Amino acid sequence: MGVRSMFTTKDAAKHIGVSQSTIYRMEKRGLISSIRTAGGQRRFSIESIKKYLEKNQNFEVPKNPNKYKKLTHLVKEQEVNYVTDNNKQPLTPKIPSSDELFFQADSIWIYNADILPTESIEENSIDLIVTSPPYGVGIKYNSHDDTMAYHDYLSFTKGWLAKCYKFLKDDGRFCLNIPLDKNKGGQQSVCADITTLAKQAGFKYHSTIIWNEQNISRRTAWGSWLSAAAPYVIAPVEVIVVLYKRSWKKTSGSRKSDITRKEFMEWTNGVWNFMGESKKRVGHPAPFPVELPRRCIKLFSFVGDTVLDPFLGSGSTLLACLQTGRKGIGVEIDRKYCELAKKRLFTEGHINQLKLAVVEG
Ligand SMILES: C[S@@+](CC[C@H](N)C(=O)[O-])C[C@H]1O[C@@H](n2cnc3c(N)ncnc32)[C@H](O)[C@@H]1O
Repeated sequence: MGVRSMFTTKDAAKHIGVSQSTIYRMEKRGLISSIRTAGGQRRFSIESIKKYLEKNQNFEVPKNPNKYKKLTHLVKEQEVNYVTDNNKQPLTPKIPSSDELFFQADSIWIYNADILPTESIEENSIDLIVTSPPYGVGIKYNSHDDTMAYHDYLSFTKGWLAKCYKFLKDDGRFCLNIPLDKNKGGQQSVCADITTLAKQAGFKYHSTIIWNEQNISRRTAWGSWLSAAAPYVIAPVEVIVVLYKRSWKKTSGSRKSDITRKEFMEWTNGVWNFMGESKKRVGHPAPFPVELPRRCIKLFSFVGDTVLDPFLGSGSTLLACLQTGRKGIGVEIDRKYCELAKKRLFTEGHINQLKLAVVEG
């Protein structure tokens, strides 16, 4: 057998003595580089691993690693601190996660990060996730490639579903806004496939809300006009799949609800009718209207709960958090969209500038 020259992420992590997620973060920061296989998998060359190890062998160990852990927001880019693994050697480098913190004000946090490797969100800490992930339909985002093949799209989905599962508390809920199906580039049962993946990730299924966004522009392709040869059927709706982690009954939190009688009666009818949001007005290629997270938040969380949107985009979920008195955390891979979300918090959310905790990216 010849000497191995390319390593998977798992093996590279083992070789360097860090976790796989640390490898992703190191790569993002240019500390190590990889190439991609045809299937999109990372491969690290032995040269790249050696170069990293040579360059980093002289780091000094802080005298009190725990103190350093707490002060990570003061650590500059590219600095690495060390923590012991249950006081056992060897010491493993830990890259501080708070460098991902882009903005914080009062009860709102925006992280400029990739949701897959991020370690910025604590496990078992979230009451409700409301999100709309990329749909894999070729939307032109700044950073994310939305044109991947369907099986790659499902692998990506599997990855972030597993992360979301970890972030939720045991009685945490998950409102997932996705398309019912996909017609571009071959018909696919997106909602059914993602719901199956979510159940495989451990989520329990509660219900599905149909969102009729009254978008007639979807009604364009007829297939074979007035013929049974190959007609197209298109439902001009999206869905919000409602899932939960372990127990549907919510016991944690303030137990204070702010939903009115009228809202409760209207929203527990699982067909929601309200308009979509204008891309042009918001300045993002796929925003949902604030009304969508607002309804999910009021229906499924208590006042003061913590809400996460792992695909923040233009920040609609955080605007809904501000309106409803929930703590809001958003993760967004693209820095420009983080800027946009922050701007919307000031212009549309009227976030109180005096309460800012002055942490900005
Ligand atoms: C459908 S949009 C969300 C729009 C959002 N609901 C709004 O109202 O603006 C999906 C967002 O996910 C972001 N994104 C894609 N991949 C990501 C990843 N791995 N981690 C974090 N954000 C990601 C994209 O940049 C895009 O802004």
